[in-house]
Amino acid sequence: MSVAAPQTVAHPLGLDPARVPRHVAIIMDGNGRWAEKRGLPRIWGHREGAVRVREVVERAGQLGVTHLTLYAFSSENWKRPQDEVSQLMLLCVAYLDGEAQRLAEEGIRLRVIGRRVGLPVEVRAAIEKVEAMTAHGTRAHLTLALNYGGRDEIVDACRALAAKAASGQILPEAIDEAMVSRHLYTADLPDPDLLIRTAGERRLSNYLLWQVSYAELFISEAAWPEFGADRFDEAVVDYAGRVRRFGKTDAQLGASGAH
Ligand code: FPP
Repeated sequence: MSVAAPQTVAHPLGLDPARVPRHVAIIMDGNGRWAEKRGLPRIWGHREGAVRVREVVERAGQLGVTHLTLYAFSSENWKRPQDEVSQLMLLCVAYLDGEAQRLAEEGIRLRVIGRRVGLPVEVRAAIEKVEAMTAHGTRAHLTLALNYGGRDEIVDACRALAAKAASGQILPEAIDEAMVSRHLYTADLPDPDLLIRTAGERRLSNYLLWQVSYAELFISEAAWPEFGADRFDEAVVDYAGRVRRFGKTDAQLGASGAH
């Protein structure tokens, strides 16, 4: 009688799964410039960007990235022309409505972080629907930052902690890093391992300020509408080759590579 050897599925990029980032956060920049360069209205860049969102979500799943957090609309983006803001909101509703069923079937839990107050009622309704439909997903986690600001998030956590301290639920001296993390919008998510920003910009733009403390950064010169699965692969391969020190020396890390 022969016993079959356990099946090991090769990684699509030939990577050691331990070196694949668990959580990738992305600042999707350059939609407007991509459109303007082609003589198109800016919203066309956002539309093409929404297509890349679908592709990158799919590729992340294939590569073993279990958490993806995308910056879709910042708390500062309200300053854009009214027409662009309205179109972006419509695009978000179309994305949420159009993807809900597929995400639910694929076990992908979608959550939205950011301040709900201030979002149009149709957007809030679409968020509530897709969050409920995908709530049981455990295979992967897709998080969209909408009306999100990193400082707002820290302020909201401070308010929640201060209220608990004032009512005697917690002692101020019991507040530590883990407790602060549990009061952020991302309470259930691991910190990002890799932060990608497209269109060559080198700023954090108020994104996940607390959570990216130890994230590796990958800047792509490509605008987001050009950032397809192949470019996502490049970022993951680059990350897999990095040594993460977390403040330690090379000698302390030894030969492990410290991933
Ligand atoms: C930055 O490009 C991008 C945004 C402000 C919006 C991102 C939105 C999408 C990718 C599409 C909708 C999202 C989902 C989840 C469906 P920019 O307009 O600032 O580009 P620019 O710097 O070239 O002007």
